[in-house]
Amino acid sequence: PLQCCINPSILSADFVNLEAELARIANADAVHVDVMDNHFVPNLTIGLPVVERIAQVSSIPLDAHLMIAEVDRWAPAYADAGIASVTFHVEASDAPIKLARELRARGSKAGMALRPATPVEPYLDMLTELDMLLIMTVEPGFGGQSFLDVTLPKIRRARAAIDGSGANVALQVDGGITDESITRAAEAGANIFVAGSAVYGAPSPAEAIELLRTKARL
Ligand code: DX5
Ligand code: ZN
Repeated sequence: PLQCCINPSILSADFVNLEAELARIANADAVHVDVMDNHFVPNLTIGLPVVERIAQVSSIPLDAHLMIAEVDRWAPAYADAGIASVTFHVEASDAPIKLARELRARGSKAGMALRPATPVEPYLDMLTELDMLLIMTVEPGFGGQSFLDVTLPKIRRARAAIDGSGANVALQVDGGITDESITRAAEAGANIFVAGSAVYGAPSPAEAIELLRTKARL
């Protein structure tokens, strides 16, 4: 697959200095913004007003990852706000095809995320409805966890299905991506890599992004 993107997650950034933290990752492809609601996951981050403001000051597009319950109700407003890519969890949606269509109709790319134990097979027929499939490589909720190698076969099956379908769907991985695990994820077929602690935990986030790019190149 075409290697594409390094999307740093601002979950590991300094939340009181977001504009400066965004400037440190200006060489990334997009900024990954984790929205959590204390219901779908046991953690709480930011909501639409802050995400909108980040979009106003960011020099790169936003990749919003919604880890929220009742996502059919809340996700379309992120698309209305002009967020470039909006990803919802299939486990939180009653009508994923309808929601993906709503996001696209509002001008956003539609992403769908799967928790580590959620199988991909039931969703392979709806790939054409999506711009991105996100396979979580940790349990969503917190940064700094270890990459779950048990997700690698699912990444491989998703890559095979995407290639077989001819659909233009990016395959994103999120969680535990380091300059070591990224190679395994890339070999399995992922082409968009989210990294929080590996980028913001480094002395130079910009250099960490370049290192990840190099390691993702097969
Ligand atoms: C976890 C979030 C991730 C998180 C990744 O629920 O969705 O985006 O920021 O952090 P790292 O890269 O530290 O695992
Ligand atoms: Zn995320």
